[in-house]
Amino acid sequence: MNSFLLLSIFATVIAGKSPRLKFVVHERSRFHFRTPENYLSMFHQDGSDTLYVGGRAKIYVLNFTDRGVRDLQIPAASDQTAIDTCKAKAAPLELECDNFITVLQKVNDTFIVCGTNAGSPRCWMLVNDTVLTDVQGNGQIGSASDISPAYPSQKSISLPTDGSLYSAMSSVGGHAGSIRRTFGPQKLLKSENVWLLNPQFAGAAVIPSAEKYKEEVYVFFSEFNKTAKVDEEPFRARIGRVCTGDEGGIRSLLPESWTTFLKARVMCGAGNTQQQYNNMKQAVVLTAQDKRAGVLYGLFSNAWGRTVICAYSIEDIDQAFSNSKLKGYSSPLTGNRPGMCVSKSHSIPENQYIKNLGVIRYNPEIEDVIRPVGVAPLDLPTDDQITHTVADIVLAVNEEHYSVLYLGTEQGKVLKALHTSDEVFIISQYSLFHNEGPVLNMAIDSQKGHLYVGTAMEVQRLQLADCGRYGDTCRECILSRDPYCGWDKARRKCIVTPPGYNATTGTIIQNLDQSNSSICGEAAALKQRRTSPKEVLVQSNTTVFLPCPVHSFHATYRWEKDNCNKNYPCLFSGDFCVLGPVVSTPLREGVFRCMATEDGFKVEVISFRLVNDGRLLSASLGSTVGPSLLLAVATLWLH
Ligand SMILES: *[C@@H]1O[C@H](CO)[C@@H](O)[C@H](O)[C@H]1NC(C)=O
Ligand SMILES: *[C@@H]1O[C@H](CO)[C@@H](O)[C@H](O)[C@H]1NC(C)=O
Ligand SMILES: *[C@@H]1O[C@H](CO)[C@@H](O)[C@H](O)[C@H]1NC(C)=O
Ligand SMILES: *[C@@H]1O[C@H](CO)[C@@H](O)[C@H](O)[C@H]1NC(C)=O
Ligand SMILES: *[C@@H]1O[C@H](CO)[C@@H](O)[C@H](O)[C@H]1NC(C)=O
Ligand SMILES: *[C@@H]1O[C@H](CO)[C@@H](O)[C@H](O)[C@H]1NC(C)=O
Ligand SMILES: *[C@@H]1O[C@H](CO)[C@@H](O)[C@H](O)[C@H]1NC(C)=O
Repeated sequence: MNSFLLLSIFATVIAGKSPRLKFVVHERSRFHFRTPENYLSMFHQDGSDTLYVGGRAKIYVLNFTDRGVRDLQIPAASDQTAIDTCKAKAAPLELECDNFITVLQKVNDTFIVCGTNAGSPRCWMLVNDTVLTDVQGNGQIGSASDISPAYPSQKSISLPTDGSLYSAMSSVGGHAGSIRRTFGPQKLLKSENVWLLNPQFAGAAVIPSAEKYKEEVYVFFSEFNKTAKVDEEPFRARIGRVCTGDEGGIRSLLPESWTTFLKARVMCGAGNTQQQYNNMKQAVVLTAQDKRAGVLYGLFSNAWGRTVICAYSIEDIDQAFSNSKLKGYSSPLTGNRPGMCVSKSHSIPENQYIKNLGVIRYNPEIEDVIRPVGVAPLDLPTDDQITHTVADIVLAVNEEHYSVLYLGTEQGKVLKALHTSDEVFIISQYSLFHNEGPVLNMAIDSQKGHLYVGTAMEVQRLQLADCGRYGDTCRECILSRDPYCGWDKARRKCIVTPPGYNATTGTIIQNLDQSNSSICGEAAALKQRRTSPKEVLVQSNTTVFLPCPVHSFHATYRWEKDNCNKNYPCLFSGDFCVLGPVVSTPLREGVFRCMATEDGFKVEVISFRLVNDGRLLSASLGSTVGPSLLLAVATLWLH
């Protein structure tokens, strides 16, 4: 009986920051690697069904359909001399002496592929999805070692825009790390070494603007102070920015370098408390087309490896870069501010221009510190280590935009979360993989509505809008709070809001801002709803366990007997609320109903009628209730 007592302790409600729903997904659109790929780069173009995955000495071209995945593997080996040299000099990193594909990017029509090539990076061009050739075409290409790292554990970022490629290379060993323009028709530029202190890059994004010349590239990274004392925080999270129109300085000042570089400190933690997360691991930006508005999501960790997400307003960041004082520079900033993007037709007086170059060269850091919206990390489940995140912006029925985050975890799961102005709601958790390795990379296709998730063993594709999963009642649809889905009153179905949906004439309802299904007006109907009891014949001396499948993890599950008000708690066992023979539970005969309460409504989930006739278990029971009943019994005894 000890195991029962122990289990009853966990029988309390699991609410708050847990996923509301849990799905185990076995899509047919999944691809298994023959040998594990511990480093994955990905390229996916919105609207296509093809995912390019860079692995070890290989590029996988994966064509997804709803029935399965067709794959083509393009070999990309490094030359043997490079491998031999690598093994001789990089003994501790010997496993990394191969050609790991680190960059897959389309720059206009040029598909650029770069790999570590066993410590001496190389770039190629992928032609017709089948052949790797040397890079050529319009524009120049910088050194491959400025685009791809030499070893796959050294993180790099690449971002194409307007026919140019921007690359950020993390610092490792003797390499300082850099932010560069590495390919395209514009002048190739670099960062000055003094601007970046051992940077570890986390992401990059183009911040669009209605006026082309004001377009900027933001780069997100952490700086690492090698001489920090043991009791000091060695990391500092940063945002760096440059104008895409930057064409470099003059012969005597910043000739090959950015002339518009500025950087800011980013904080992620509760207010000014000591509990700060300073190591930015990854970052994504959601922007509205042509608008300098949007949100930056940063994935941070602290010294103990705990991960959190902080959200920042792009407008706040923009304001800070436009108005803040510069660190270590006290003269007033009059006229054209250093670092601001200027159009080619607008010339700055030469003396002012040269003065500005000097300011950028020596004082590119702004004083203002960027703090998260809500002045704290997002309230997410604390038992999940997040390894990768992507985000999507969804136009809801009320014509507002809502952010949806997809968080890949250390255990190979994906959490889908709605981020509204004042809270985070975890819509669901997906268990996707046979092998529970960490999620290494993800790609999102908002246009086609797909999420690609990769671990070292598999790549899988998920539907962003999978409204049929939520159930066939209005209440279930509304309580899902999934902005992709709404209840169609006319068709009485939970459906995807179609593109170009007109809220004035349409029949779809949603309620995303709170968990409240009163919009369905089903209260009366729910009270009436009864399930037909499944009959269980019991012998007087057998022990019976009644399983009730848990659907919503935000609901409270209880058992009731014979319509009495007396409740019997669950012995939770995985995804079942199990009623077992504990003290004062008369599990002999009568009707037992499992009731789930959520959002103020009590709904009957399943019911059993126990009949004590002294005979053995009937054969019909064995084939209907039997399997789940036995499952519940088995899992209980295993504890
Ligand atoms: C993938 O799909 C594209 C476009 O439909 C096609 O051109 C290509 O041959 C396909 N590749 C494979 C490996 O099936
Ligand atoms: C790519 O395809 C085009 C058109 O089919 C062909 O002319 C060209 O030779 C191909 N290029 C390579 C490198 O195979
Ligand atoms: C990239 O493509 C755009 C549109 O097709 C074109 O206007 C531009 O000149 C191209 N840029 C480069 C560098 O090829
Ligand atoms: C790194 O930490 C050391 C020790 O606290 C400190 O003296 C030094 O100024 C720091 N370096 C930077 C660039 O902040
Ligand atoms: C929606 O439909 C109404 C009525 O037909 C129409 O007046 C309105 O312009 C439509 N709105 C949009 C955004 O299409
Ligand atoms: C749900 O919303 C309705 C109407 O806005 C309100 O009257 C009701 O109190 C809300 N219910 C809960 C549980 O918040
Ligand atoms: C239950 O009763 C049956 C029939 O009397 C008997 O064969 C069986 O051993 C009993 N089981 C237990 C667990 O006592």
